[in-house]
Amino acid sequence: MEYDMVNIPAPPSTGQKTSSPAAGKQTITIIDNRTGKQYEIPIEHETIRAIDLRQIKVNPDDFGLMTYDPAFMNTAACKSKITFIDGDKGILRYRGYPIEQLAEKSTFLETAYLIIYGELPAKSEAEDWTNNIMMHTLIHENVKKFVDGFHYDAHPMGMLVSSVAALSTFYTDAKHTNDPESRTKQIYRLVGKMPTLAAFAFRHSVGRPYVYPDNELSYAGNFLSMLFKMTEIRYKVNPILEHALDVLFILHADHEQNCSTSAMRNVGSSQVDPYSATAAAAAALYGPLHGGANEAVLEMLDGIGNKNNIPAFIKSVKEGKGKLMGFGHRVYKNYDPRAKVIKRLADEVFEVTGRNPKLDIALELERIALEDEYFIKRKLYPNVDFYSGLIYQAMGFPVEMFPVLFAIGRTPGWVAQWQEMLLDPDQKIARPRQIYLGSDTRDYIMMGKRDDVQKDNKTGAQ
Ligand code: CMC
Repeated sequence: MEYDMVNIPAPPSTGQKTSSPAAGKQTITIIDNRTGKQYEIPIEHETIRAIDLRQIKVNPDDFGLMTYDPAFMNTAACKSKITFIDGDKGILRYRGYPIEQLAEKSTFLETAYLIIYGELPAKSEAEDWTNNIMMHTLIHENVKKFVDGFHYDAHPMGMLVSSVAALSTFYTDAKHTNDPESRTKQIYRLVGKMPTLAAFAFRHSVGRPYVYPDNELSYAGNFLSMLFKMTEIRYKVNPILEHALDVLFILHADHEQNCSTSAMRNVGSSQVDPYSATAAAAAALYGPLHGGANEAVLEMLDGIGNKNNIPAFIKSVKEGKGKLMGFGHRVYKNYDPRAKVIKRLADEVFEVTGRNPKLDIALELERIALEDEYFIKRKLYPNVDFYSGLIYQAMGFPVEMFPVLFAIGRTPGWVAQWQEMLLDPDQKIARPRQIYLGSDTRDYIMMGKRDDVQKDNKTGAQ
């Protein structure tokens, strides 16, 4: 869930707030009109601490002022050095490196290292990192049995969520989240095993035997082998598709405090093992407003059928009868920079696979939407999910696998954010407040008397 809202200014970039543009005193003065009292609250990184409002009270017994911010529209829940987004300008950087440069010049494993450790690896570090990841691609034979146990038409994302959670039962050392060595080991395992779990889920859903990892291949090449190998001795990876998949993983690797990453941080803040936290993050990603959107885009394009039906479809969206899936974002008020890279990548892939016929519908849909007042006014542009599904489908993935591919790419981001959260002295177990608007205290009502009293209450409430 990485998006913005129309009439609320785009949130400030959360990664680069080192000093305020104004040179004046870095405080804000609040006058409580209920009491006439004045409070001076410090501003740091153009942010005030919500806890500083707690001193604002009408009387000493008062709990103190809180902020109300459903969906965290304007609340920074952490300080982070991992990903920078400027939603207005359409900028995305991992550890300062522009996404376009990483997509062009890096590999997924190198980018994963960058995201997790903060710097690009030296040659020997890159070799060690790659070896450590590829050494952890195998999964315990019993995990295979779990996958076997799923129904023939189980959604692969459901299988992934469950099987990644199950890993915590195999790696009980993972509960030592304060031990850096244990954390590193679990990071290797998670990044290494996610493609294997994903591929096994896919093979199960198509009724084919599981293919074990081939660690002579690249990360993306091995994944393609585990998915599509048939009876040949070694799967012959198409280098263009291997590269395209690697770039797609890079583009999905992190996106600061989105819904699934927030889930990872929130659940991880209880100090549970990272497999359980990753399962929670993957579950958040599953939803159609987040990583499930790429699946929904393809369903939408199927529903539209052909270009002639686009105007009627756009009209129905504007009438509130549905959404233009793959459009809109909580953060981006401009073209999603990842969608731009994906659009270019699509041409490379279609050279190999043949053009996905739905591309023409998507291009025309984009053209019409970007000229339409409704979308212009709300600053709704294509997001990462608008074109990615077309590539995935052309590569032979069923739509149900789309969020699974997103999850593989996002794993380095999840574990990097999880580790950053654990090492951040500001962080504690996540525990938001609420505004309680329910009943005041009342006495228990015996069953025989309940109907009358509750009827009276309901009538009173109307
Ligand atoms: N189609 C039509 N109208 C839209 C769309 C859309 N895709 N997205 C937003 N709007 C409208 C929305 O109805 C609202 O209109 P109004 O002001 O008249 O009520 C306005 O734009 C603001 O939208 P919002 O729902 O308040 O914005 P949000 O920041 O809460 O939601 C979003 C962002 C991504 C959930 C939303 O844009 C959406 O549902 N898009 C489609 C699903 C999608 O593509 N999700 C993938 C997001 S990118 C990858 C990821 O993060 O996983």
